[in-house]
Amino acid sequence: MIRGSQLRKALTQKFDEELKFFKGWMDKPKAVGAIAPTSSITSRRMASIVDPSSGLPVLETGPGTGVITKAILARGIAPQNLYSIEYSPNFVRHLHRLYPEVNVIEGDAFNLTETLGDKRDMVFDCVVSAVPLLNFPIKRRVAYLEDLLGRIPAGRPVMQITYGPLSPIPAGKGDYTVKHFDFIMRNIPPAHLWIYRRPAH
Ligand SMILES: C[S@@+](CC[C@H](N)C(=O)[O-])C[C@H]1O[C@@H](n2cnc3c(N)ncnc32)[C@H](O)[C@@H]1O
Repeated sequence: MIRGSQLRKALTQKFDEELKFFKGWMDKPKAVGAIAPTSSITSRRMASIVDPSSGLPVLETGPGTGVITKAILARGIAPQNLYSIEYSPNFVRHLHRLYPEVNVIEGDAFNLTETLGDKRDMVFDCVVSAVPLLNFPIKRRVAYLEDLLGRIPAGRPVMQITYGPLSPIPAGKGDYTVKHFDFIMRNIPPAHLWIYRRPAH
């Protein structure tokens, strides 16, 4: 049973996350791209692609307040095996405090070779991406995906959240398949999840 003090702590933490998210949104609405943190149900669905038995590290892009980060860790990934790339210094500070052992890297997910530094050649199990793709031209979205797919084994997924009904990365623009994974009403706004893979030839 949840005690009053535990419930108060959980609610305070949730409110704090939402406030931080809102402040981030006020600073840079285009970069944040959503009006509330991803719900825990959506975060869990996104993290469900992680295969802890692969032994490979996981790449997360656009962690924001860390809700999806938490769901990835809950899959049994050691924090030292998670690399989370975040653009906003405020969110990065918050993530360092919340998950001191996760490799939170401040930088641009669209330029991973530079952002990952000496980890640029690392092979990841999969990618969980919450970067707001719709704010970028399609050519950049495709280049972003191709870059991510080059960092994971063929056949493994890149998971992307979006709020429109269409895949933010159209099929037929490169060497990848597109699959609608889920639509989740319990998210603000309701979210679509898409999975992209490079076929094993
Ligand atoms: C829609 S929010 C998602 C935040 C969090 N993962 C969640 O689900 O609540 C998008 C996040 O991506 C970050 N972001 C935007 N552009 C980015 C980029 N080019 N590289 C890395 N992070 C970026 C924003 O700062 C923000 O934290």
